[in-house]
Amino acid sequence: MNLVNWFLRANEEGMREAALAYERSRASGATLSVRDAHQQAMKALAGASAILVGLLERGDELRVRLDTFDRHNVILGATGSGKTRAIIDRFLQRAALGLRGGFECELFDPKTETFVELKKHMAAWWLASDDATREEIARAVHVIDWTRDRITPTAPYDNSDGAMTDAYAAELHTRVTIEASDVTYSDSLRQVLFMWSFLLNDLRYPPNFNFALRFFREPAYRTQVLARVKSPDVRQYFSALEHITAKQTQDAFLRRLWSEQAFPEYRYATSVPPAQLDKLGLPKRPRWILANFGTTNTQPQSLGHARFRWHVIRRLLAAPRRATDAHLSLIFEEVPKLLGGSPEVTQIVETALATLRSVNVSLTLCAQSLSGTLPGPVVENILLNTHTWSIFQTRPDEAELLYPHVLHEPTDHRTDGERRREFERIMQSLPQQHFYFLAKGHPAFLCRTPNVADPATNVGRSAEELLEIFDRYIAPRSMISMEVAARLIAEWEGEVVGQQQIAENPARARSASGSEVSAGLDQLRRILGGKREGES
Ligand SMILES: Nc1ncnc2c1ncn2[C@@H]1O[C@H](COP(=O)(O)OP(=O)(O)OP(=O)(O)O)[C@@H](O)[C@H]1O
Ligand SMILES: [Mg+2]
Repeated sequence: MNLVNWFLRANEEGMREAALAYERSRASGATLSVRDAHQQAMKALAGASAILVGLLERGDELRVRLDTFDRHNVILGATGSGKTRAIIDRFLQRAALGLRGGFECELFDPKTETFVELKKHMAAWWLASDDATREEIARAVHVIDWTRDRITPTAPYDNSDGAMTDAYAAELHTRVTIEASDVTYSDSLRQVLFMWSFLLNDLRYPPNFNFALRFFREPAYRTQVLARVKSPDVRQYFSALEHITAKQTQDAFLRRLWSEQAFPEYRYATSVPPAQLDKLGLPKRPRWILANFGTTNTQPQSLGHARFRWHVIRRLLAAPRRATDAHLSLIFEEVPKLLGGSPEVTQIVETALATLRSVNVSLTLCAQSLSGTLPGPVVENILLNTHTWSIFQTRPDEAELLYPHVLHEPTDHRTDGERRREFERIMQSLPQQHFYFLAKGHPAFLCRTPNVADPATNVGRSAEELLEIFDRYIAPRSMISMEVAARLIAEWEGEVVGQQQIAENPARARSASGSEVSAGLDQLRRILGGKREGES
Protein backbone atom coordinates (compact mmCIF):
# COMPACT_ATOMS: atom_id res chain seq x y z
CA MET A 1 0.00 0.00 0.00
CA ASN A 2 1.52 3.32 -0.94
CA LEU A 3 1.72 6.27 1.42
CA VAL A 4 -1.26 8.13 0.03
CA ASN A 5 -3.54 5.08 0.09
CA TRP A 6 -2.49 4.27 3.58
CA PHE A 7 -3.13 7.80 4.62
CA LEU A 8 -6.54 8.03 3.01
CA ARG A 9 -7.49 4.80 4.74
CA ALA A 10 -6.28 6.19 8.04
CA ASN A 11 -8.47 9.21 7.41
CA GLU A 12 -11.46 7.00 6.81
CA GLU A 13 -10.77 5.54 10.20
CA GLY A 14 -11.88 8.73 11.83
CA MET A 15 -9.08 11.27 12.00
CA ARG A 16 -10.94 14.10 10.33
CA GLU A 17 -14.50 13.96 11.59
CA ALA A 18 -15.07 17.68 11.23
CA ALA A 19 -13.96 17.75 7.62
CA LEU A 20 -16.06 14.72 6.85
CA ALA A 21 -19.06 16.20 8.62
CA TYR A 22 -18.59 19.20 6.45
CA GLU A 23 -18.39 17.06 3.33
CA ARG A 24 -21.52 15.18 4.44
CA SER A 25 -23.44 18.36 5.06
CA ARG A 26 -22.50 19.50 1.59
CA ALA A 27 -23.59 16.24 0.02
CA SER A 28 -26.94 16.54 1.70
CA GLY A 29 -27.45 19.95 0.16
CA ALA A 30 -26.35 22.09 3.13
CA THR A 31 -24.13 25.00 2.24
CA LEU A 32 -21.56 25.56 4.93
CA SER A 33 -18.93 27.97 3.62
CA VAL A 34 -15.25 27.27 4.23
CA ARG A 35 -15.15 30.35 6.42
CA ASP A 36 -18.01 29.08 8.60
CA ALA A 37 -16.43 25.63 8.88
CA HIS A 38 -13.15 27.27 9.89
CA GLN A 39 -14.89 29.49 12.43
CA GLN A 40 -16.40 26.40 14.02
CA ALA A 41 -13.03 24.67 14.17
CA MET A 42 -11.34 27.80 15.55
CA LYS A 43 -13.86 27.94 18.37
CA ALA A 44 -13.30 24.28 19.12
CA LEU A 45 -9.50 24.70 19.26
CA ALA A 46 -9.38 27.96 21.28
CA GLY A 47 -9.71 28.36 25.03
CA ALA A 48 -7.97 29.76 28.06
CA SER A 49 -4.13 29.70 27.89
CA ALA A 50 -4.12 29.07 24.15
CA ILE A 51 -1.05 29.50 21.95
CA LEU A 52 -1.27 31.76 18.91
CA VAL A 53 -0.07 29.58 16.03
CA GLY A 54 -1.18 31.60 13.02
CA LEU A 55 -3.10 34.49 11.54
CA LEU A 56 -5.83 33.68 9.07
CA GLU A 57 -6.54 35.52 5.84
CA ARG A 58 -8.69 38.24 7.39
CA GLY A 59 -6.45 38.66 10.40
CA ASP A 60 -8.36 36.22 12.62
CA GLU A 61 -6.11 34.59 15.18
CA LEU A 62 -5.77 30.82 15.21
CA ARG A 63 -5.20 29.94 18.84
CA VAL A 64 -4.74 26.41 20.07
CA ARG A 65 -5.45 25.21 23.60
CA LEU A 66 -2.67 23.40 25.43
CA ASP A 67 -4.46 20.05 25.34
CA THR A 68 -3.96 20.14 21.54
CA PHE A 69 -0.78 22.21 21.41
CA ASP A 70 1.08 19.95 23.85
CA ARG A 71 0.77 16.88 21.63
CA HIS A 72 3.15 15.26 19.16
CA ASN A 73 3.45 17.43 16.08
CA VAL A 74 5.39 17.88 12.86
CA ILE A 75 6.63 21.09 11.26
CA LEU A 76 7.52 20.61 7.60
CA GLY A 77 8.62 22.92 4.85
CA ALA A 78 11.26 23.91 2.36
CA THR A 79 14.35 25.77 3.46
CA GLY A 80 13.62 29.39 4.39
CA SER A 81 9.86 28.83 4.64
CA GLY A 82 9.69 29.82 8.32
CA LYS A 83 9.88 26.61 10.40
CA THR A 84 12.55 27.79 12.80
CA ARG A 85 10.81 31.11 13.43
CA ALA A 86 7.60 29.18 14.10
CA ILE A 87 9.43 26.96 16.60
CA ILE A 88 10.91 29.99 18.34
CA ASP A 89 7.65 31.90 18.46
CA ARG A 90 5.72 28.94 19.85
CA PHE A 91 8.50 28.08 22.27
CA LEU A 92 8.55 31.62 23.71
CA GLN A 93 4.78 31.69 24.14
CA ARG A 94 4.70 28.25 25.73
CA ALA A 95 7.66 29.03 28.00
CA ALA A 96 6.06 32.30 29.14
CA LEU A 97 2.93 30.36 30.12
CA GLY A 98 4.97 27.75 31.94
CA LEU A 99 7.65 30.00 33.43
CA ARG A 100 6.74 29.29 37.00
CA GLY A 101 6.18 25.56 36.60
CA GLY A 102 4.19 23.06 34.63
CA PHE A 103 6.40 23.15 31.56
CA GLU A 104 9.64 21.40 30.74
CA CYS A 105 11.31 21.24 27.38
CA GLU A 106 14.42 20.39 25.47
CA LEU A 107 15.37 21.74 22.07
CA PHE A 108 17.76 19.46 20.17
CA ASP A 109 19.52 21.39 17.46
CA PRO A 110 22.01 19.56 15.24
CA LYS A 111 22.58 22.75 13.19
CA THR A 112 23.32 25.34 15.93
CA GLU A 113 21.26 28.03 14.17
CA THR A 114 18.05 27.70 16.18
CA PHE A 115 20.06 27.32 19.37
CA VAL A 116 21.84 30.63 18.79
CA GLU A 117 18.66 32.41 17.76
CA LEU A 118 16.87 31.16 20.85
CA LYS A 119 19.76 32.27 23.05
CA LYS A 120 19.27 35.81 21.74
CA HIS A 121 15.54 35.67 22.39
CA MET A 122 16.06 34.34 25.91
CA ALA A 123 18.58 37.10 26.63
CA ALA A 124 16.15 39.74 25.32
CA TRP A 125 13.40 38.28 27.50
CA TRP A 126 15.76 38.26 30.49
CA LEU A 127 16.76 41.89 29.83
CA ALA A 128 13.19 43.10 29.62
CA SER A 129 12.16 41.31 32.84
CA ASP A 130 12.04 42.26 36.51
CA ASP A 131 14.53 40.65 38.92
CA ALA A 132 12.24 37.82 39.99
CA THR A 133 11.52 36.84 36.39
CA ARG A 134 15.21 37.05 35.50
CA GLU A 135 15.96 34.62 38.28
CA GLU A 136 13.22 32.23 37.09
CA ILE A 137 14.59 32.33 33.54
CA ALA A 138 18.20 31.79 34.63
CA ARG A 139 17.14 28.94 36.90
CA ALA A 140 15.02 27.24 34.27
CA VAL A 141 17.44 27.39 31.34
CA HIS A 142 20.24 24.90 30.91
CA VAL A 143 22.46 24.67 27.86
CA ILE A 144 24.35 21.77 26.36
CA ASP A 145 27.05 23.51 24.43
CA TRP A 146 30.77 23.76 23.79
CA THR A 147 32.53 27.04 23.33
CA ARG A 148 36.22 27.93 23.08
CA ASP A 149 36.71 27.91 26.83
CA ARG A 150 33.61 26.42 28.42
CA ILE A 151 31.75 23.16 27.98
CA THR A 152 28.68 21.47 29.40
CA PRO A 153 29.98 18.28 30.97
CA THR A 154 27.92 15.16 30.26
CA ALA A 155 28.50 11.58 31.26
CA PRO A 156 27.83 9.24 28.34
CA TYR A 157 28.59 6.13 30.38
CA ASP A 158 26.66 7.05 33.49
CA ASN A 159 23.79 4.63 33.61
CA SER A 160 23.03 5.10 37.28
CA ASP A 161 19.53 6.51 36.67
CA GLY A 162 18.44 2.94 35.96
CA ALA A 163 16.66 3.85 32.70
CA MET A 164 18.08 0.65 31.20
CA THR A 165 20.39 -2.17 32.12
CA ASP A 166 24.14 -1.65 31.76
CA ALA A 167 24.24 -4.31 29.05
CA TYR A 168 21.50 -2.64 27.01
CA ALA A 169 23.08 0.80 27.49
CA ALA A 170 26.38 -0.65 26.23
CA GLU A 171 24.70 -2.27 23.25
CA LEU A 172 22.89 0.93 22.27
CA HIS A 173 26.01 2.96 22.76
CA THR A 174 27.99 0.59 20.55
CA ARG A 175 25.39 0.66 17.79
CA VAL A 176 25.07 4.42 17.82
CA THR A 177 28.84 4.87 17.73
CA ILE A 178 29.22 2.49 14.80
CA GLU A 179 26.24 3.94 12.90
CA ALA A 180 27.64 7.45 13.18
CA SER A 181 31.21 6.41 12.43
CA ASP A 182 32.86 6.97 9.08
CA VAL A 183 35.19 3.98 9.51
CA THR A 184 34.32 0.29 9.56
CA TYR A 185 34.28 -1.95 12.63
CA SER A 186 35.18 -5.64 12.45
CA ASP A 187 33.14 -8.07 14.58
CA SER A 188 35.90 -8.41 17.12
CA LEU A 189 36.44 -4.65 17.35
CA ARG A 190 32.72 -4.19 17.83
CA GLN A 191 32.84 -6.73 20.63
CA VAL A 192 35.65 -4.89 22.41
CA LEU A 193 33.73 -1.63 22.07
CA PHE A 194 30.61 -3.24 23.51
CA MET A 195 32.42 -4.82 26.46
CA TRP A 196 34.33 -1.60 27.10
CA SER A 197 31.06 0.38 27.24
CA PHE A 198 29.63 -2.28 29.55
CA LEU A 199 32.68 -2.00 31.81
CA LEU A 200 32.47 1.81 32.04
CA ASN A 201 28.74 1.67 32.78
CA ASP A 202 29.32 -0.96 35.44
CA LEU A 203 32.09 1.02 37.15
CA ARG A 204 30.54 4.44 36.45
CA TYR A 205 33.86 5.44 34.94
CA PRO A 206 34.43 8.12 32.30
CA PRO A 207 35.97 7.29 28.92
CA ASN A 208 39.69 7.86 29.45
CA PHE A 209 42.57 6.88 27.23
CA ASN A 210 45.19 6.49 29.95
CA PHE A 211 42.90 4.24 31.91
CA ALA A 212 42.19 2.12 28.82
CA LEU A 213 45.88 1.87 27.99
CA ARG A 214 46.83 0.58 31.38
CA PHE A 215 43.80 -1.69 31.59
CA PHE A 216 44.56 -3.37 28.26
CA ARG A 217 48.32 -3.46 28.67
CA GLU A 218 48.81 -4.56 32.30
CA PRO A 219 47.12 -7.82 33.31
CA ALA A 220 47.79 -7.22 37.02
CA TYR A 221 46.14 -3.78 36.88
CA ARG A 222 43.26 -5.28 34.92
CA THR A 223 42.69 -7.93 37.57
CA GLN A 224 42.66 -5.26 40.23
CA VAL A 225 40.07 -3.19 38.33
CA LEU A 226 37.93 -6.23 37.53
CA ALA A 227 37.67 -7.04 41.23
CA ARG A 228 35.40 -3.96 41.46
CA VAL A 229 33.17 -4.92 38.53
CA LYS A 230 29.68 -6.17 39.39
CA SER A 231 28.82 -7.95 36.15
CA PRO A 232 30.20 -11.52 35.93
CA ASP A 233 30.01 -11.29 32.13
CA VAL A 234 32.31 -8.28 32.05
CA ARG A 235 34.71 -9.92 34.49
CA GLN A 236 34.80 -13.12 32.48
CA TYR A 237 35.38 -11.39 29.15
CA PHE A 238 38.23 -9.18 30.30
CA SER A 239 39.81 -11.92 32.41
CA ALA A 240 40.10 -13.95 29.22
CA LEU A 241 40.99 -10.93 27.08
CA GLU A 242 44.34 -12.23 25.89
CA HIS A 243 42.83 -15.54 24.77
CA ILE A 244 39.84 -14.19 22.90
CA THR A 245 41.02 -10.90 21.44
CA ALA A 246 43.99 -10.45 19.18
CA LYS A 247 46.55 -7.87 20.18
CA GLN A 248 45.94 -6.05 16.88
CA THR A 249 42.25 -5.67 17.75
CA GLN A 250 43.13 -4.25 21.14
CA ASP A 251 45.57 -1.85 19.47
CA ALA A 252 42.95 -0.83 16.93
CA PHE A 253 40.50 -0.19 19.74
CA LEU A 254 43.02 1.91 21.68
CA ARG A 255 43.82 3.92 18.58
CA ARG A 256 40.14 4.70 18.01
CA LEU A 257 39.69 5.67 21.61
CA TRP A 258 42.72 7.88 21.41
CA SER A 259 41.63 9.65 18.28
CA GLU A 260 38.23 10.31 19.85
CA GLN A 261 39.88 11.77 22.94
CA ALA A 262 42.23 13.89 20.85
CA PHE A 263 39.55 16.56 20.39
CA PRO A 264 39.72 18.68 23.54
CA GLU A 265 36.15 20.02 23.41
CA TYR A 266 34.86 16.50 23.04
CA ARG A 267 37.14 15.10 25.72
CA TYR A 268 36.26 17.74 28.28
CA ALA A 269 32.56 17.47 27.49
CA THR A 270 32.40 13.70 27.88
CA SER A 271 35.19 12.63 30.23
CA VAL A 272 34.60 14.39 33.52
CA PRO A 273 34.02 11.48 35.92
CA PRO A 274 30.32 11.08 36.79
CA ALA A 275 31.13 11.03 40.51
CA GLN A 276 32.83 14.45 40.18
CA LEU A 277 29.95 15.77 38.10
CA ASP A 278 27.64 15.05 41.01
CA LYS A 279 29.68 17.45 43.14
CA LEU A 280 29.79 20.37 40.71
CA GLY A 281 26.41 21.71 41.78
CA LEU A 282 25.03 21.79 38.23
CA PRO A 283 21.24 21.65 38.18
CA LYS A 284 20.05 18.07 38.61
CA ARG A 285 16.76 18.51 36.83
CA PRO A 286 16.90 21.58 34.61
CA ARG A 287 13.51 22.51 33.21
CA TRP A 288 14.39 24.04 29.84
CA ILE A 289 17.35 22.59 28.01
CA LEU A 290 18.77 24.15 24.87
CA ALA A 291 21.04 21.56 23.36
CA ASN A 292 23.49 22.49 20.62
CA PHE A 293 24.75 19.42 18.80
CA GLY A 294 26.14 21.24 15.78
CA THR A 295 29.73 20.13 15.41
CA THR A 296 30.93 23.23 13.52
CA ASN A 297 34.71 23.25 13.43
CA THR A 298 35.61 21.73 16.78
CA GLN A 299 35.34 18.01 16.09
CA PRO A 300 34.46 15.46 13.42
CA GLN A 301 30.81 15.09 12.53
CA SER A 302 30.84 11.40 13.41
CA LEU A 303 31.69 12.17 17.04
CA GLY A 304 29.13 14.96 17.27
CA HIS A 305 26.46 12.75 15.70
CA ALA A 306 27.14 9.84 17.98
CA ARG A 307 27.01 12.09 21.02
CA PHE A 308 23.78 13.74 19.77
CA ARG A 309 22.07 10.44 19.10
CA TRP A 310 23.19 8.92 22.31
CA HIS A 311 21.93 11.92 24.28
CA VAL A 312 18.54 11.73 22.55
CA ILE A 313 18.25 8.01 23.23
CA ARG A 314 18.93 8.54 26.92
CA ARG A 315 16.41 11.37 27.12
CA LEU A 316 13.70 9.36 25.39
CA LEU A 317 14.28 6.21 27.41
CA ALA A 318 14.37 8.14 30.68
CA ALA A 319 11.22 10.17 29.87
CA PRO A 320 8.70 7.68 31.30
CA ARG A 321 10.51 7.74 34.65
CA ARG A 322 10.39 11.49 35.19
CA ALA A 323 9.87 12.66 38.73
CA THR A 324 7.19 15.15 37.65
CA ASP A 325 3.99 15.13 35.66
CA ALA A 326 4.67 18.60 34.18
CA HIS A 327 4.39 18.63 30.43
CA LEU A 328 7.68 17.88 28.70
CA SER A 329 8.11 19.10 25.14
CA LEU A 330 11.01 17.61 23.15
CA ILE A 331 11.68 19.67 20.05
CA PHE A 332 13.82 18.17 17.28
CA GLU A 333 15.18 20.53 14.65
CA GLU A 334 16.15 18.75 11.41
CA VAL A 335 14.81 15.37 12.43
CA PRO A 336 16.28 13.54 9.39
CA LYS A 337 19.73 14.33 10.80
CA LEU A 338 18.77 12.40 13.89
CA LEU A 339 17.04 9.46 12.23
CA GLY A 340 18.82 9.18 8.87
CA GLY A 341 20.91 6.01 8.66
CA SER A 342 20.10 4.95 12.20
CA PRO A 343 17.52 2.18 12.53
CA GLU A 344 18.29 2.18 16.24
CA VAL A 345 17.34 5.79 16.90
CA THR A 346 14.43 5.59 14.46
CA GLN A 347 12.94 2.69 16.35
CA ILE A 348 13.31 4.47 19.66
CA VAL A 349 11.71 7.67 18.31
CA GLU A 350 8.84 5.65 16.82
CA THR A 351 8.28 3.92 20.15
CA ALA A 352 8.44 7.27 21.91
CA LEU A 353 5.74 8.64 19.58
CA ALA A 354 3.54 5.68 20.39
CA THR A 355 4.04 5.66 24.14
CA LEU A 356 5.18 8.96 25.63
CA ARG A 357 1.90 10.80 25.33
CA SER A 358 0.60 8.82 28.28
CA VAL A 359 3.35 10.34 30.43
CA ASN A 360 2.65 13.88 29.21
CA VAL A 361 5.62 14.11 26.87
CA SER A 362 5.30 15.49 23.35
CA LEU A 363 7.69 15.40 20.41
CA THR A 364 7.95 18.18 17.85
CA LEU A 365 9.58 16.85 14.70
CA CYS A 366 10.83 19.46 12.28
CA ALA A 367 12.12 18.76 8.76
CA GLN A 368 12.44 20.27 5.33
CA SER A 369 10.83 17.08 4.11
CA LEU A 370 10.06 13.71 5.63
CA SER A 371 9.25 11.66 2.56
CA GLY A 372 12.32 12.94 0.73
CA THR A 373 14.66 11.72 3.44
CA LEU A 374 13.14 8.84 5.43
CA PRO A 375 11.77 5.42 4.45
CA GLY A 376 8.04 5.29 3.67
CA PRO A 377 7.00 3.21 6.71
CA VAL A 378 8.83 5.62 9.05
CA VAL A 379 7.07 8.61 7.49
CA GLU A 380 3.73 6.80 7.81
CA ASN A 381 4.38 6.13 11.44
CA ILE A 382 5.35 9.70 12.18
CA LEU A 383 2.28 11.09 10.43
CA LEU A 384 -0.05 8.61 12.05
CA ASN A 385 1.26 9.34 15.53
CA THR A 386 1.44 13.13 15.39
CA HIS A 387 -1.64 15.14 16.29
CA THR A 388 -0.94 18.48 14.65
CA TRP A 389 0.94 19.36 11.49
CA SER A 390 2.27 22.71 10.35
CA ILE A 391 3.13 22.37 6.67
CA PHE A 392 4.88 25.22 4.90
CA GLN A 393 5.92 25.36 1.23
CA THR A 394 6.42 21.73 0.27
CA ARG A 395 6.72 19.04 -2.36
CA PRO A 396 3.69 17.57 -4.15
CA ASP A 397 3.93 14.21 -2.36
CA GLU A 398 3.70 15.87 1.04
CA ALA A 399 1.02 18.28 -0.18
CA GLU A 400 -0.98 15.23 -1.21
CA LEU A 401 -1.03 13.97 2.35
CA LEU A 402 -2.53 17.23 3.50
CA TYR A 403 -5.00 17.58 0.66
CA PRO A 404 -7.80 15.42 2.14
CA HIS A 405 -7.97 17.82 5.10
CA VAL A 406 -8.42 20.94 3.02
CA LEU A 407 -11.93 22.28 2.55
CA HIS A 408 -13.46 23.61 -0.65
CA GLU A 409 -16.30 26.03 -1.14
CA PRO A 410 -19.66 24.38 -1.91
CA THR A 411 -19.69 26.49 -5.06
CA ASP A 412 -16.40 24.99 -6.30
CA HIS A 413 -17.46 22.49 -8.96
CA ARG A 414 -14.04 21.43 -10.22
CA THR A 415 -13.21 17.73 -10.19
CA ASP A 416 -11.25 16.33 -7.27
CA GLY A 417 -8.24 15.76 -9.56
CA GLU A 418 -8.29 19.39 -10.68
CA ARG A 419 -8.46 20.65 -7.12
CA ARG A 420 -5.70 18.33 -6.00
CA ARG A 421 -3.33 19.45 -8.76
CA GLU A 422 -4.12 23.08 -8.02
CA PHE A 423 -3.45 22.48 -4.32
CA GLU A 424 -0.09 20.82 -5.02
CA ARG A 425 0.86 23.79 -7.18
CA ILE A 426 -0.11 26.22 -4.41
CA MET A 427 1.90 24.26 -1.83
CA GLN A 428 4.99 24.33 -4.04
CA SER A 429 4.98 28.10 -4.15
CA LEU A 430 3.51 29.03 -0.77
CA PRO A 431 5.06 32.35 0.34
CA GLN A 432 7.40 32.48 3.34
CA GLN A 433 5.59 32.22 6.71
CA HIS A 434 2.45 30.78 5.10
CA PHE A 435 1.48 27.29 6.16
CA TYR A 436 -1.40 24.90 6.61
CA PHE A 437 -2.16 24.07 10.19
CA LEU A 438 -3.92 20.79 10.82
CA ALA A 439 -5.17 19.54 14.15
CA LYS A 440 -6.52 16.09 13.50
CA GLY A 441 -10.28 15.99 13.69
CA HIS A 442 -10.56 19.50 12.23
CA PRO A 443 -10.15 20.92 8.76
CA ALA A 444 -6.73 22.34 7.81
CA PHE A 445 -6.28 26.12 7.96
CA LEU A 446 -4.17 28.21 5.65
CA CYS A 447 -2.49 30.81 7.81
CA ARG A 448 0.63 32.87 8.33
CA THR A 449 2.97 32.62 11.28
CA PRO A 450 3.02 35.67 13.59
CA ASN A 451 5.97 37.95 12.85
CA VAL A 452 8.92 37.22 15.08
CA ALA A 453 10.68 40.50 15.75
CA ASP A 454 14.45 40.57 15.78
CA PRO A 455 15.28 40.27 19.49
CA ALA A 456 18.21 42.67 19.14
CA THR A 457 16.14 45.53 17.72
CA ASN A 458 13.39 44.76 20.19
CA VAL A 459 15.55 45.58 23.20
CA GLY A 460 17.93 48.01 21.51
CA ARG A 461 21.03 45.82 21.82
CA SER A 462 23.21 44.21 19.20
CA ALA A 463 23.05 40.47 18.56
CA GLU A 464 26.58 40.12 20.02
CA GLU A 465 25.51 41.90 23.20
CA LEU A 466 22.54 39.58 23.60
CA LEU A 467 24.73 36.50 23.21
CA GLU A 468 27.16 37.94 25.71
CA ILE A 469 24.35 38.55 28.20
CA PHE A 470 23.15 34.99 27.75
CA ASP A 471 26.65 33.62 28.23
CA ARG A 472 27.25 35.77 31.30
CA TYR A 473 23.94 35.53 33.17
CA ILE A 474 22.18 32.39 31.97
CA ALA A 475 24.64 29.81 30.59
CA PRO A 476 27.18 29.64 33.48
CA ARG A 477 24.80 27.61 35.61
CA SER A 478 25.18 24.69 33.23
CA MET A 479 28.74 25.02 31.96
CA ILE A 480 32.22 24.70 33.42
CA SER A 481 35.53 26.00 32.18
CA MET A 482 37.86 23.68 30.30
CA GLU A 483 40.41 24.22 33.06
CA VAL A 484 38.03 22.80 35.65
CA ALA A 485 37.17 19.87 33.37
CA ALA A 486 40.89 19.20 32.74
CA ARG A 487 41.63 19.31 36.47
CA LEU A 488 38.82 16.90 37.35
CA ILE A 489 39.93 14.48 34.65
CA ALA A 490 43.57 14.67 35.75
CA GLU A 491 42.60 14.14 39.41
CA TRP A 492 40.60 11.08 38.46
CA GLU A 493 43.49 9.69 36.44
CA GLY A 494 45.83 10.32 39.37
CA GLU A 495 43.55 8.37 41.63
CA VAL A 496 42.41 5.54 39.38
CA VAL A 497 45.18 5.10 36.86
CA GLY A 498 47.84 6.01 39.38
CA GLN A 499 50.63 6.87 37.02
CA GLN A 500 52.22 10.05 35.87
CA GLN A 501 49.82 11.88 33.61
CA ILE A 502 50.32 13.52 30.29
CA ALA A 503 50.02 17.23 31.20
CA GLU A 504 46.56 18.58 30.49
CA ASN A 505 46.75 22.07 29.11
CA PRO A 506 43.55 23.20 27.44
CA ALA A 507 45.10 26.39 26.07
CA ARG A 508 47.76 24.41 24.22
CA ALA A 509 45.39 21.69 23.18
CA ARG A 510 43.23 24.31 21.47
CA SER A 511 46.07 25.48 19.27
CA ALA A 512 44.97 25.64 15.67
CA SER A 513 48.33 24.41 14.42
CA GLY A 514 47.51 20.81 15.29
CA SER A 515 51.09 20.27 16.46
CA GLU A 516 49.94 19.09 19.88
CA VAL A 517 47.69 16.58 18.24
CA SER A 518 50.46 15.22 16.07
CA ALA A 519 52.85 15.17 19.02
CA GLY A 520 50.23 13.13 20.84
CA LEU A 521 49.87 10.87 17.81
CA ASP A 522 53.59 10.21 17.80
CA GLN A 523 53.40 9.38 21.45
CA LEU A 524 50.51 7.06 20.79
CA ARG A 525 52.34 5.31 17.98
CA ARG A 526 55.29 4.79 20.28
CA ILE A 527 53.05 3.35 22.97
CA LEU A 528 51.22 1.08 20.56
CA GLY A 529 54.23 -0.10 18.67
CA GLY A 530 54.37 2.50 15.92
CA LYS A 531 51.86 0.90 13.59
CA ARG A 532 48.78 2.46 12.08
CA GLU A 533 45.54 0.58 11.87
CA GLY A 534 45.60 -1.67 8.84
CA GLU A 535 49.41 -1.79 8.85
CA SER A 536 50.84 -5.20 9.35
N1 LIG B 1 7.65 34.42 11.61
C1 LIG B 1 8.62 35.14 11.04
N2 LIG B 1 8.86 36.40 11.42
C2 LIG B 1 9.84 37.12 10.87
N3 LIG B 1 10.64 36.67 9.88
C3 LIG B 1 10.46 35.40 9.45
C4 LIG B 1 9.45 34.58 10.01
N4 LIG B 1 9.50 33.39 9.39
C5 LIG B 1 10.50 33.45 8.50
N5 LIG B 1 11.08 34.66 8.53
C6 LIG B 1 12.21 35.11 7.69
O1 LIG B 1 12.59 34.04 6.85
C7 LIG B 1 13.90 33.56 7.15
C8 LIG B 1 13.92 32.05 7.14
O2 LIG B 1 13.06 31.56 8.17
P1 LIG B 1 13.44 30.27 9.01
O3 LIG B 1 14.85 30.32 9.41
O4 LIG B 1 12.42 30.15 10.06
O5 LIG B 1 13.25 29.17 7.88
P2 LIG B 1 13.38 27.59 8.01
O6 LIG B 1 12.14 27.01 7.43
O7 LIG B 1 13.71 27.22 9.38
O8 LIG B 1 14.61 27.28 7.04
P3 LIG B 1 15.69 26.09 7.11
O9 LIG B 1 14.99 24.85 6.69
O10 LIG B 1 16.73 26.51 6.13
O11 LIG B 1 16.19 26.04 8.52
C9 LIG B 1 14.24 34.16 8.50
O12 LIG B 1 15.61 34.43 8.62
C10 LIG B 1 13.44 35.44 8.53
O13 LIG B 1 14.13 36.45 7.87
MG1 LIG C 1 15.32 26.23 10.26
